[in-house]
Amino acid sequence: MDAWRVIALRISHFLLAFCLLGGLKAEAGSYWRSAHGSYANGVKRNNRALYNKGNCGHCHDQHGDYGGISNGGPFAFALYANPFNTNASPGNYQKADAFCFHCHTNGTDSEQNGGIVNEDYSKTFGGYSASGKNNILSTFNQRSYHDLEDVYNFAKNSFPFFTSESSPCVACHNPHLARRVKADPGNPAANTAISRPTAHDTLWGDDNTSTDKETMYYFYQGRYQAPYAYGGTNSYEPGGTSTYDGHNLPDYATFCTDCHNPGNTIYSTSLGRNLIKIDWSTQGGESGPGDKHGRNSATTSLGVKAPYANAPIGITLGFALSCTDCHEPHGAPNPYLVRSEVNGTQISIPNTSTGNEIGYLCLACHKDDQAYGVSTTPNHWRYAHHTATDHPYPQQQCGRCHSGGGMGGTPIPCMNCHMHGKDDSYLGSSSTGRICF
Ligand code: HEC
Ligand code: HEC
Ligand code: HEC
Ligand code: HEC
Ligand code: HEC
Ligand code: HEC
Ligand code: HEC
Ligand code: HEC
Repeated sequence: MDAWRVIALRISHFLLAFCLLGGLKAEAGSYWRSAHGSYANGVKRNNRALYNKGNCGHCHDQHGDYGGISNGGPFAFALYANPFNTNASPGNYQKADAFCFHCHTNGTDSEQNGGIVNEDYSKTFGGYSASGKNNILSTFNQRSYHDLEDVYNFAKNSFPFFTSESSPCVACHNPHLARRVKADPGNPAANTAISRPTAHDTLWGDDNTSTDKETMYYFYQGRYQAPYAYGGTNSYEPGGTSTYDGHNLPDYATFCTDCHNPGNTIYSTSLGRNLIKIDWSTQGGESGPGDKHGRNSATTSLGVKAPYANAPIGITLGFALSCTDCHEPHGAPNPYLVRSEVNGTQISIPNTSTGNEIGYLCLACHKDDQAYGVSTTPNHWRYAHHTATDHPYPQQQCGRCHSGGGMGGTPIPCMNCHMHGKDDSYLGSSSTGRICF
């Protein structure tokens, strides 16, 4: 018998026992508090009319059928549909490609009674209203996204709980525990939807005590300054509240670095190469290693906008950011999962190849020439590199760096220097050796 058939059989026995004995006490408590198990909002498929809202039977068919009619399976884990289609077209995912998409798709296609609305991060937690993506399937079908087969392959080879029959969504979520994070956008830590891939059997973000430190406040204690919510000058992410120190935000830095850390080699199909290894923790100072947006501190001075300038948390250097300050978790209309709104500013990275496109992200938090008052157009960066306190480059022998001589010439592509972990060694003998991101 295939391994998954054995598992399916085990689950059908388990489900039977579960029904007969009235449920496993320990599991049941957390399940009924989960989004799926909730009596008020939980799972309820139109074609499983016999089951109450929240019943396991809306996801598991214990005998591969319902009312004597086969579900077309049997499928792994006694689910009612295939966990994942490894032949799916990335960026053009269909409902049938992942088990979870059967319900987490648009209103009319969803098998969930009444449908499900899940806005993207920029909208739910940033308050930016124009994103237009309001279900999970459509957030994955954008300009950039977490490639589900890459996630599946990486998780299968990395985490013991993740089997060759698992769905890639399960790498980041435990469907028996995940809570309704959207229910209180101002306190996603209490209602967290995620489980760390290294701790699948428990939620991540909800414990915020002196022993369990699962919020951004504790990632590097006292160093997290929440960015503004959209349109706010006094309201902060997540959810546009007055809390600005990360006590209400799950520690997404620790979560994402379960996979994106210096030890793991991760292949990306869409980028066609292995990913840069993200080092959010090492404090190697000016020349690294260690990302300056992580625990490694910026040096000497910064040219940043509010709320990092005159920061309410009371520091001027040494901030540590959350990955979700810049990135969506599922997919985004910008490259590299870059959010459509960052620090209260709409972000639209043009689809051109001049080389300064990513600068439209930087200016959400850093002062460009316009913010310094030396240009009338956004996204020019002379002041930061040539004039500001702690500028890296003297303005001389322009041709060493600028092909067009500097004045009005083509910009030097930002990502020659500014990528996670990179320094400016691309300049050869003109380089300063400073870590640039
Ligand atoms: C939202 C859909 C959903 C609901 C509702 C659901 N499950 Fe599951 N369950 C899954 C998925 C998906 C898996 C496979 C997990 C994986 O890929 O590793 C699974 C796996 C399992 C397993 C195999 C062991 C494990 O945890 O991986 C058991 C046992 C199980 N479910 C029991 C239950 C019981 C009992 C209930 C109701 C109390 C329930 N499930 C409700 C989706 C669901
Ligand atoms: C790489 C990790 C990762 C993967 C893979 C992933 N998610 Fe998520 N998901 C997250 C994080 C982090 C959040 C919390 C932030 C948020 O709500 O946007 C989240 C939130 C959610 C939410 C709540 C959204 C809301 O705020 O209303 C749903 C529903 C969800 N995920 C479903 C899925 C499904 C379905 C899949 C697979 C197709 C999936 N996720 C794959 C990381 C992931
Ligand atoms: C049978 C339909 C169904 C399936 C299949 C299903 N879900 Fe859900 N899911 C729901 C419903 C219903 C909710 C609650 C929606 C609401 O509160 O509006 C929900 C909520 C969630 C949430 C909570 C976040 C939030 O704030 O809405 C997460 C995370 C999530 N699902 C992930 C998954 C993952 C991962 C899978 C696949 C393993 C999956 N779901 C499969 C119906 C389903
Ligand atoms: C200040 C904004 C910002 C923050 C915070 C941030 N990123 Fe990024 N990230 C970017 C930008 C810009 C790019 C594109 C340049 C690059 O590839 O490094 C990127 C690219 C990436 C890439 C693709 C790298 C590659 O191979 O090109 C990964 C993976 C990534 N980020 C993960 C993370 C994780 C994990 C965190 C948190 C620990 C994080 N990012 C925090 C801005 C940010
Ligand atoms: C379960 C492991 C896992 C977790 C957790 C995870 N990632 Fe990834 N990530 C991957 C894999 C695998 C890829 C390569 C596939 C791809 O590029 O789409 C990737 C790619 C990326 C990329 C590059 C995407 C592109 O195509 O440009 C970014 C950015 C990124 N991740 C950010 C994040 C952020 C932010 C988080 C936390 C919210 C996170 N990741 C959590 C596995 C993970
Ligand atoms: C969400 C806000 C935000 C965004 C977006 C952002 N940064 Fe930053 N950046 C910061 C903060 C805050 C610091 C200070 C970190 C510290 O104090 O350790 C910083 C530090 C830096 C530093 C270190 C400066 C020094 O003196 O050592 C560099 C270089 C930098 N950012 C470049 C960039 C570039 C390039 C982009 C765009 C691709 C970008 N940042 C996008 C907030 C942001
Ligand atoms: C050691 C390298 C280096 C040298 C030498 C140098 N620059 Fe720059 N310059 C940069 C970098 C890096 C930037 C930021 C990227 C960009 O905007 O092209 C920059 C930006 C600029 C910008 C803003 C361009 C824009 O549209 O955003 C101007 C104008 C400029 N430099 C003029 C000069 C002039 C004039 C000289 C010579 C007198 C000079 N630079 C010498 C590295 C250099
Ligand atoms: C030749 C390498 C190089 C290129 C190309 C380059 N930069 Fe920089 N940039 C640097 C260095 C070095 C620093 C100073 C880092 C430090 O202070 O440690 C810097 C600093 C910055 C900062 C941080 C300023 C602060 O707040 O202290 C931003 C933002 C920035 N660059 C944006 C850009 C943008 C946008 C582009 C493309 C238009 C660009 N850079 C191109 C090397 C480069």
